[in-house]
Amino acid sequence: MKHIFNKGKDASKPTFLLLHGTGGTELDLLPIAGQIDDQANVLSVRGNVSENGMPRFFKRLAEGVFDEEDLIFRTKELHDFLDEAAEKYEFDRNNIIAIGYSNGANIAASLMFHYQDSLKGGILHHPMVPRRGIELPDLTGKNVFITAGTNDPICPASETEDLQALLQSAGADVTVHWEQNGHQLTFTEVAAAKEWLATK
Ligand code: MLT
Repeated sequence: MKHIFNKGKDASKPTFLLLHGTGGTELDLLPIAGQIDDQANVLSVRGNVSENGMPRFFKRLAEGVFDEEDLIFRTKELHDFLDEAAEKYEFDRNNIIAIGYSNGANIAASLMFHYQDSLKGGILHHPMVPRRGIELPDLTGKNVFITAGTNDPICPASETEDLQALLQSAGADVTVHWEQNGHQLTFTEVAAAKEWLATK
């Protein structure tokens, strides 16, 4: 997968896996990773799917309606890529924290829904429930921070609440940060994510 790897200054820190939103690239979230912790490794990946030229991490059939077969395929592709990248760049495979926005947050959630040890945790900005009706792996010990907007037209509040409930019932420690905003990624939610991570 097309990506950037920037080695951090402190090997005890997690590796941030950056996952952009629809139409983004691997450059988009680099400043946010720097704001959250500028000492950590950064692995920033570009989605392999193109929707009319806009990079995404998996196909969708319509706004908010995911192509499940492609979601499963792309989730495995990303999971396998993380195995390869950890070996190539010599970072701790068991200490990856995803930072995803929108479509990128959705594939991060999908990694957790399908693989017990793909991620140590995730900062998910404006995610949805990636898939329903499946049994999740045991996510005990995984930490998830979700940010959401009460007026988000793409992610209704019920999606956030369902995602929180599903992850919690699989054993994950989940914190949700609400703002009275829409789908945009705000400076204050990034600041909240930084504060949350410092407590983990
Ligand atoms: C998705 O397709 O993953 C969500 O609808 C969010 C987005 O627009 O990317």
